[in-house]
Amino acid sequence: MKQISVVIIGAGNRGCIYARRMRELPGNPYKVVAVADPVKTGREEIRRMYDLPESACYEKWEDLLEQPRLADLAVIATKDDMHYLPAMRAIEKGYNLLLEKPAAQTARECVDIAVAAKRKGVIALVCHVMRYTAFFGTIKDLLMAGTIGDVVSIEQIEGVGNLTFCHAYVRGNWCREADATPMLMAKCCHDLDMIQWLLDKPCTKVQSFGSLSHFKPENAPEGAPKRCTDGCPAADTCPYNSIRYYYEDKNKRQIIAHGISKSLEPTDEETMQALKTTDYGLCAYRANNDVADHQTVNMEFAGGVTATLIVNAFNQGGRHIRIFGTKGELFAYRADSEINVYTFEDQRKWTVSVPKTDETLEGGHGGGDKGIVRELYEYMCGDYTGCRIADIQESVRNHMIGFAAEESRHTDTVVNLQKFSEKYGF
Ligand SMILES: NC(=O)c1ccc[n+]([C@@H]2O[C@H](COP(=O)([O-])OP(=O)(O)OC[C@H]3O[C@@H](n4cnc5c(N)ncnc54)[C@H](O)[C@@H]3O)[C@@H](O)[C@H]2O)c1
Repeated sequence: MKQISVVIIGAGNRGCIYARRMRELPGNPYKVVAVADPVKTGREEIRRMYDLPESACYEKWEDLLEQPRLADLAVIATKDDMHYLPAMRAIEKGYNLLLEKPAAQTARECVDIAVAAKRKGVIALVCHVMRYTAFFGTIKDLLMAGTIGDVVSIEQIEGVGNLTFCHAYVRGNWCREADATPMLMAKCCHDLDMIQWLLDKPCTKVQSFGSLSHFKPENAPEGAPKRCTDGCPAADTCPYNSIRYYYEDKNKRQIIAHGISKSLEPTDEETMQALKTTDYGLCAYRANNDVADHQTVNMEFAGGVTATLIVNAFNQGGRHIRIFGTKGELFAYRADSEINVYTFEDQRKWTVSVPKTDETLEGGHGGGDKGIVRELYEYMCGDYTGCRIADIQESVRNHMIGFAAEESRHTDTVVNLQKFSEKYGF
């Protein structure tokens, strides 16, 4: 069995997940040979996992990519504002890429990466892990089999969950557009990819509305201080009390451990210190956030097919999808449920169970994290027969919908996607 060698750039949450998933595949199809990350916790985890020598552990991506090409594949799992430069450098060196989403922070940078990959003849796969889940795979199979006829419209809801939203988009890594991307790109480039993949048609027009309306100082409880650790009078009733969320729930500590603790199980002192010094301890209404907390995107696809995507913080969490076809309707809630189908001809309601694999049960994006590395292996070996792998050229088309939606939201216009893409030479 051919073994694909890998370097991991960014050994945080996602970088470590891919390293683990690659190791879990039978027959050792991948071998991680080097890692780069300034923080020792993740670097050490990967060093131990693959028994790497110290000389294969770099503190910065720049140092790793300064070396002659070390592997077949570079996993780029740094934060959103650090995708473009390492991706371009890695392509120049001849690495194939597994690139975290969103591919880059701007439409221009996304196009640059796609063009460079094509010119160099390397594979660049964006981590649209939802494609590799049993849930969306089953929906795609039903549509391809013509179960509900021709699709006329899709409604997708990305319910981020109020607490998850607060963690990521109010206090966390994705709360400021300049440091990451607009919330729509950070959270929903998966959803846009799903809609495009399920419809398998080009998007023609986009319109979007949305703003930051709730997580703002004027909505703070009376007397709320800057930090929850400063003695907030609303501590008992505020759903966003960071002490309750991160400190009292020991399972949650791990999600802020990176950079504040030497281990993935921060102590009481380390957790409290993090709440006193990092953005995770800020009042949710006085944080440094500027991204939208609710947004709606309307899309038209070739042939007049329409789609709507709704994303917001104000729910308990979970994805819904409803697909309207000429011969029936399909509805599903959350990525682990059954898919409900209603067919017009026989007026029958029935359900299709999503296959429950170990991966689905263990989480990891409903099996998508393991699925993507499994299918990438087949693709890189040249024996891929599936329909999920999307070249970066296709991913950029999906990203364009998101960037066009942002243009629409900021300019109060309907954006013609072809003209929008042409501006970037795409
Ligand atoms: N595909 C998905 O479903 C999915 C899910 C979550 C996050 N993401 C994306 O994955 C990316 C990483 O997110 P994360 O949650 O793992 O973030 P993270 O902060 O846990 O990891 C980023 C890592 O990059 C490291 N880093 C910083 N500077 C570096 C440098 N100069 N060289 C090398 N490494 C450096 C950081 O120390 C950190 O360990 C983001 O772009 C995010 O949007 C994708």
